Amino acid sequence: MTKCVYPGSFDPFTLGHLDILERACALFGEVKVAVLHNSRKRCFFTLDERLAFIRSAIEARNLSNASAEAFEGLLADYIKIERADCVLRGIRGAIDYEYEAAMAALNKRLYPKCETVVLMASPEHIAVSSSMVREIGRLGGDIGSLVPEANRETIAERLLQDE
Ligand code: PNS
Repeated sequence: MTKCVYPGSFDPFTLGHLDILERACALFGEVKVAVLHNSRKRCFFTLDERLAFIRSAIEARNLSNASAEAFEGLLADYIKIERADCVLRGIRGAIDYEYEAAMAALNKRLYPKCETVVLMASPEHIAVSSSMVREIGRLGGDIGSLVPEANRETIAERLLQDE
């Protein structure tokens, strides 16, 4: 069974992330969403909130071969410990590509068995990013078409509190 790890900050998990996750669930035997826990990188949402958003989206979409957990430290080490076959990343275009290519090359240098599989974002999600969700939500805009339905209200309320 092929196992992939889908790592990220997911601050918060968007419909673009969910699209990649659902497509990966159809391609791989097991997909583990690995949520970055890094005390040096400040996220708006807490680790527990980010995990809860992903888990409720997984449940709502009945993704029985997906799970989510936190990871700390080097991704290459996590892939090794998890005995995963590959890292999964989604890209929206050329700007994402440069960063992803460098990360894939470095992960492979750190752990030569580490392969990276990239899925292109679906056209309707090309403009969706966590940072845009945070900005639109903070300013009271409608984030309904940007984040999974299960999390919409909680995310919108939390972001409004930041203004
Ligand atoms: O959603 P993001 O912020 O683009 O995800 C980036 C992430 C978490 C995949 C990357 O920062 C990462 O793997 N961090 C763990 C530390 C690490 O291994 N750094 C070296 C990467 S080459």
